[in-house]
Amino acid sequence: MRNVVLIGFMGTGKSVVGRRLARELSFRFIDTDRWIEEKTGKKISEIFSEEGGERRFRDLESEAVREIVRQEGLVISTGGGALLNRSNQALLSEKGLLVWLKARPDMILKRAQKRPGERPLLKVTDPLGEIKRLLEEREPYYQSAVFSMDTSDRTISEVVSQIKERVLEIEGKKDPSSFG
Ligand code: S3P
Repeated sequence: MRNVVLIGFMGTGKSVVGRRLARELSFRFIDTDRWIEEKTGKKISEIFSEEGGERRFRDLESEAVREIVRQEGLVISTGGGALLNRSNQALLSEKGLLVWLKARPDMILKRAQKRPGERPLLKVTDPLGEIKRLLEEREPYYQSAVFSMDTSDRTISEVVSQIKERVLEIEGKKDPSSFG
């Protein structure tokens, strides 16, 4: 079956949900941000603060997408801006089932503040306003997903089992061990 690709804004639970979902489906888990950090030996925040900053990061992100989609049997967690690039969007939806994770802006801020410094795009004077602005700008891109799920008021287990159920329904198979 196709890869499962988690898309959506930062702080919506893509990494934590993706890891658990992969385990449930007996798939491997890959996170585009971690791929970039391993490849460069640098933290995402370092890449943003160096010369070239976000532009360099976006190039690396596209490279990560191109490399990762060559494989199958994956749950892929993407960075919140990955879908804004047309070729990333085309490749990810061609090779996978896009699932959009959502959360309310206040929840996103709360989650982002748990690990300050890891979200360079939110290093601004009004992070909540920035979250709302970016969400509005990005929503049309995230809408290319096959379905969405709001993680604001659900536990990780609930989100994982509901996504699993929907994915298996869509793929028309109930037993992951029978994926051909
Ligand atoms: C970004 C989201 C981050 C990371 C980078 C840029 C974005 O990933 O890729 O800081 O543009 O929204 P997460 O969505 O995993 O936090």
